[in-house]
Amino acid sequence: MRTTKSRRLISRKLVAGFVAIAVVGLVAGAVGCAGKPNPGYPTPTAEAPAVMPQPDQFGIVKAEQWKDIYPNQYNSYLKNADNAPIYEEYTAEGVDDTTSALYEGYTPKPNDKADYTHDLYPEIQTLGKGYGYAKYYTEPASHVYSLWTVTHNGRVGDGSKTKTGCITCKTPQFSKDVDAEGNEIFSKPFNDYIYKYDENISCASCHGNDPTTLRVDRAGWTVAMGDDADKYSLQGQVCGQCHCDYSMDPVTSVPTSPYDGVASMVPDKALQWYDDHNYVDWTYETTGAKMIAVRHAEYEFNYGGEGNHMTNMGYDCNDCHMPATFAEDGTAYSDHNWQSPLDNEDLIKRDCSTCHKDIKAEVKAWQDELDGRDHQDGLRCEKFVHNFEDAIAKGTLTDEQTSRLQYIQRAATYYWNFVGAENSEGAHNPQLVRDTLSKCEALLDEADGILGVSSVVES
Ligand code: HEC
Ligand code: HEC
Ligand code: HEC
Ligand code: HEC
Repeated sequence: MRTTKSRRLISRKLVAGFVAIAVVGLVAGAVGCAGKPNPGYPTPTAEAPAVMPQPDQFGIVKAEQWKDIYPNQYNSYLKNADNAPIYEEYTAEGVDDTTSALYEGYTPKPNDKADYTHDLYPEIQTLGKGYGYAKYYTEPASHVYSLWTVTHNGRVGDGSKTKTGCITCKTPQFSKDVDAEGNEIFSKPFNDYIYKYDENISCASCHGNDPTTLRVDRAGWTVAMGDDADKYSLQGQVCGQCHCDYSMDPVTSVPTSPYDGVASMVPDKALQWYDDHNYVDWTYETTGAKMIAVRHAEYEFNYGGEGNHMTNMGYDCNDCHMPATFAEDGTAYSDHNWQSPLDNEDLIKRDCSTCHKDIKAEVKAWQDELDGRDHQDGLRCEKFVHNFEDAIAKGTLTDEQTSRLQYIQRAATYYWNFVGAENSEGAHNPQLVRDTLSKCEALLDEADGILGVSSVVES
């Protein structure tokens, strides 16, 4: 049942005798080999295309061009259209829908996606005040809406001032422009670039122009992995290049990672890095706290530090989120409709259930406990901020107390955010979530002691 750590540290590609080629900013390896989870199922394979389709003006082959060559993968990719963004009567300032080709094929419609800022976690409005996510933060949609979402998320604000950084994980066409123009591109205005692109996250984001290989080309990921790039699977890294935390360099606006290897991919080490390098995403107006925003740390919760149980057993992101399935003619292929493994009855039956008695109930119990506790800690952070503001107004704090409380606001909110911005609601690593929230709570206890007022909120 359990594989040893040394087994995990070796990419499955290497185990199977393939050699991963590592070039600066690029890692490539062969697809479709190696002993997998998915017991009893064949590992899908594919042959390289006989004739390479013509790349577009950016140099990428578009999803549609693969439809006859890899029909199973392509058709399952199209099913992502069902996982559509939340509809709000809202368009980011400076965005003109009528002139853009981005939105063809998508008519926004009401759905059951959550509005985090206004419905589920209203504490975001206080804790993120002064930063984009306090205005707008919803449950994500699927990869095929990435360009729509980035221009309609109400966070980009004035697109002539916002920089290009957030386009990094939204289209492979931008990655090509980064290659061509270098890091200067990250100090350019969002609006000067976004309307050139018409391909959402697609085949090229994970495969380059050859779907029989996996490749990682997101700027900065190579730095984040340090010496571990060859030791960890590409199946995890292709997702991790976008599903990870990062922050924009204060001077160059280049998306920069706080990591230098997998051991460093844990919340307290990342915070230490941001502290050591004076990273400040925004300054909190009323208290002067230097704040950090955290992004979707899915790679960290699965692989970071010692890793979780499932990655230690050899499972990668794709084993749960794009498992092998069969076409009508019996061909095995990887399901490219990225969804919750809990929506896949076949996977649960043949795989998860061999160890988990009731994986749905187990995940729900983790999420109820951990998402509930994170929300509770968020409300507590919010109350602490108000207590802090009151003390500032009364003028009762020493400089030393003020500076300690500013740091506590930065760090406690950071831990709360690290957990909250992760999309599995605690399922990917229940124990790491508990440890992270305990750190948040310990800081708030300390703040309560300094302020002489409790921040605890009745649940
Ligand atoms: C978000 C990343 C991602 C995107 C986007 C993506 N793939 Fe894949 N693809 C994978 C992964 C991961 C595998 C499994 C590789 C493995 O296990 O070695 C895979 C496997 C494949 C394979 C090998 C056979 C199989 O089914 O496992 C083919 C062919 C393929 N993809 C085609 C495509 C095409 C065509 C598109 C676009 C329509 C696409 N992929 C988009 C990640 C992606
Ligand atoms: C190029 C960047 C990129 C890569 C590579 C990538 N993702 Fe994503 N992923 C995103 C973005 C951005 C979103 C949100 C899109 C939106 O809301 O429009 C997303 C959304 C998702 C969602 C939907 C979330 C939801 O709540 O419905 C899943 C599941 C997902 N990704 C899994 C994966 C897996 C598994 C891989 C690797 C095989 C992967 N992603 C690779 C950027 C990426
Ligand atoms: C052992 C299986 C497993 C592995 C490995 C795994 N996940 Fe998940 N993932 C889950 C479960 C379970 C959930 C919660 C699903 C739910 O709430 O329905 C989830 C949720 C998510 C979500 C939110 C989407 C949704 O539909 O709820 C994203 C995005 C995601 N995972 C990305 C990743 C990425 C990226 C990796 C690798 C870095 C990864 N996962 C590895 C099991 C896994
Ligand atoms: C070979 C046995 C085995 C199989 C098969 C298995 N799991 Fe697990 N899983 C475990 C064990 C053991 C743990 C750790 C104990 C616990 O918390 O339940 C675990 C933990 C988890 C966790 C918590 C995160 C972590 O890794 O600590 C998730 C989520 C999970 N499993 C999802 C899945 C899903 C989804 C599948 C099917 C695709 C699956 N598991 C298949 C044995 C297994």
